[in-house]
Amino acid sequence: MSILAPYHVHDYSFADFPPGSRVLDVGCGEGEQMLELIANGHEAVGVDLDTDAIRRLRSDGLNVVEGSAESLPFQDAMFDGVVCKVVFPYTYSAKAIAEIARVLKPGGTVRFSFHGAGYYLLYMFHHPNWKSRIYGLRSLVNGWVYAITGRRLPGFLGDTIYQSTTRLSRYYRRHRFEVIESPEAPTYLGFPVLMYQTVRKQPVVPKTPDLSPRRFKESMDRTSHRLDMLQQELTTLSR
Ligand SMILES: C[S@@+](CC[C@H](N)C(=O)[O-])C[C@H]1O[C@@H](n2cnc3c(N)ncnc32)[C@H](O)[C@@H]1O
Repeated sequence: MSILAPYHVHDYSFADFPPGSRVLDVGCGEGEQMLELIANGHEAVGVDLDTDAIRRLRSDGLNVVEGSAESLPFQDAMFDGVVCKVVFPYTYSAKAIAEIARVLKPGGTVRFSFHGAGYYLLYMFHHPNWKSRIYGLRSLVNGWVYAITGRRLPGFLGDTIYQSTTRLSRYYRRHRFEVIESPEAPTYLGFPVLMYQTVRKQPVVPKTPDLSPRRFKESMDRTSHRLDMLQQELTTLSR
């Protein structure tokens, strides 16, 4: 049995969107989520860095584009929903989440999976293969370096990072994402292993001007005061 088996959240769906949604799968891989979305009656668009995977999916008739999560090749507010499963460890997460927020319509939802520090601690302490143990360690170190500097280690050392709930909360605040579903993530040594979260982009509420009689009177008083001052200045100038 895989060391990760007890940590998966099995009742979380990546295809649960309002009927007929146009959904972008960021890091679509072999198209597993896209097929599920289509089977549920949604329009699915995929984007991935992997040229070969994109070619295969395109020859299967799927609507896919080669591109990166950090620079999505789509216009603003094009999608009702976004799916991003097992992709964040390989991205510059701050840029990727900003791009997801950009292409999502206000009120749209994103279904995410994230790897927490517990995932890599499990690798480090329990994986039977020593290379995978080192992978766990370097992913943790890389995650700390990214948290402090916003950069990743060079080359293969910097291939993977984890997410923390604090960093995710910061991203969500920055992009007006409200968490609407977050099944409790099983932890290892107190750290989340796999986190599944659904967030909604809050619509921008236009500021309505305060038209109360009190505010109206204050504004009129200010205007008449300015006019008095102006008149005084004109009188002084004309002498
Ligand atoms: C582990 S696979 C997950 C695939 C799919 N989401 C799934 O759950 O079956 C990770 C995928 O993310 C893609 N990927 C990695 N970094 C990416 C990036 N910066 N932008 C877009 N795709 C990326 C990889 O090419 C790969 O297909």
